[in-house]
Amino acid sequence: SQADIGLIGLGVMGENLALNIADNGYKVAVYNRTADKVDSFLSGAGDLSDNVMGSADLAKFVSMLKRPRSVIIMVKAGGPVDSVIEQLKPLLEKGDVIIDAGNANYHDTVRRFAELDGTGIGFLGIGVSGGEEGARHGPSIMVGGSEDEWHNAEDVLNAIAAKFDGESCCAYLGTGGAGHFVKTIHNGIEYADMQMIAEIYGVMRDGLGMSPAECADVFREWNKGPLDSYLIEISSHVLDAVDEESGKPLLDIIVDQAGQKGTGRWSAIEALNLGVSATTIEGAVAARSISAMKDERIAGEKLYGAAPKGKAKLDLKTLEKALLAGKIAAYAQGFAVMAKASEENGWNLPLDQIAKIWRAGCIIRSRFLDTISQSFASGTAANLLTQPAFVEMMKDSNGALREVVAGCAMAELPTPCLSSALAYFDGYRQANGTTNLTQGQRDFFGAHGFKRYDKEGDFHHSWPSLIEK
Ligand code: 6PG
Repeated sequence: SQADIGLIGLGVMGENLALNIADNGYKVAVYNRTADKVDSFLSGAGDLSDNVMGSADLAKFVSMLKRPRSVIIMVKAGGPVDSVIEQLKPLLEKGDVIIDAGNANYHDTVRRFAELDGTGIGFLGIGVSGGEEGARHGPSIMVGGSEDEWHNAEDVLNAIAAKFDGESCCAYLGTGGAGHFVKTIHNGIEYADMQMIAEIYGVMRDGLGMSPAECADVFREWNKGPLDSYLIEISSHVLDAVDEESGKPLLDIIVDQAGQKGTGRWSAIEALNLGVSATTIEGAVAARSISAMKDERIAGEKLYGAAPKGKAKLDLKTLEKALLAGKIAAYAQGFAVMAKASEENGWNLPLDQIAKIWRAGCIIRSRFLDTISQSFASGTAANLLTQPAFVEMMKDSNGALREVVAGCAMAELPTPCLSSALAYFDGYRQANGTTNLTQGQRDFFGAHGFKRYDKEGDFHHSWPSLIEK
């Protein structure tokens, strides 16, 4: 019998996604450029072997699929996706759907829609989050494309997605690049979440002199409270790990240079392009960049001296609350970026639904997201900072964030995300800001004009020239 769906690209994510599909009772056909990958996948499928088939011959692979065909592509984002689409095109027919499940830049997704337009071959750009484990046992899936095509693949995608209280963490979010855009912002928030946790770890390590094992205990404890989340949970495991060879805490051996594959940076770029303030997400991307400059940081420490150790006068409860406040600011920014993008692209993004499908399966899954989904479901305000549940939380926790940022400044510890979260919050609730001066300067040097409180319209002042005659 024929396969319900096809999957191209047997990297770890692709392989796990295929096993997940088979595990849910669907028949899946796989294709990989290299025949031995296909062979080892098929021979290793064990109990699931009745539900898997495959070939390293693309035409043969396509012939294994039920019509209309759905083909998931799980290859490296960028050029490889285009090349697979080109190879598939002559083999597919009207009504078939190509589903790109990689971390695509949504601009590429938009272009691919345009390129397939008129061929009759459909396209879906889906964001898949949850890492290897998620792909195998239930990721969060963010779908973008035409609704008809979504309905073709809906059953399989809903089945393989994570479940939260029985609800599938897969949803159709909007046309074109909507799914990949939302995944990009998910990753931007993921970067901010991770960086803020790292900053708090830095306070514990350098400011309070705590060992990795002691920090692990704290995170384990916090995982029972409002910070309860996958990232806090895995942080405690990472902090607990011991290197077998040296017997030292593994974390003391891991080099402090973080990699990045693009999605975090894209989310900051999109925020900048949309004119939405997302400084905490930008701060997280920048923190990875400065982390990569290890040699310069070593030289910098020689030049300016190291920060003093054990100088932070902060207690753990304050750190916990500060992290919560920072998290609220970061999520407020991410959702504000999505709200603006939705407006600009006519996507009508369901913000409550997005928060819902992030409650399980994905990397930023947490209890917190349940509160976000409830807030967006009951109100229309786009910024989380105006949602009653978060107003309460922010009122309760912004003082702690202030103490931590101030404490770290005096203890000479960098907090790019936490401090930008605080600045975002303070900026957001300041009715009378200071860009009146900026406007005056712009008018002075470039006659850019300004608005007045006391009259309608655009105004210029006649400024004196400062050039000496
Ligand atoms: C996920 C992750 C996953 C991956 C990203 C980020 O949601 O499952 O975000 O997609 O970890 O590619 O990777 P970098 O940290 O390397 O940019």
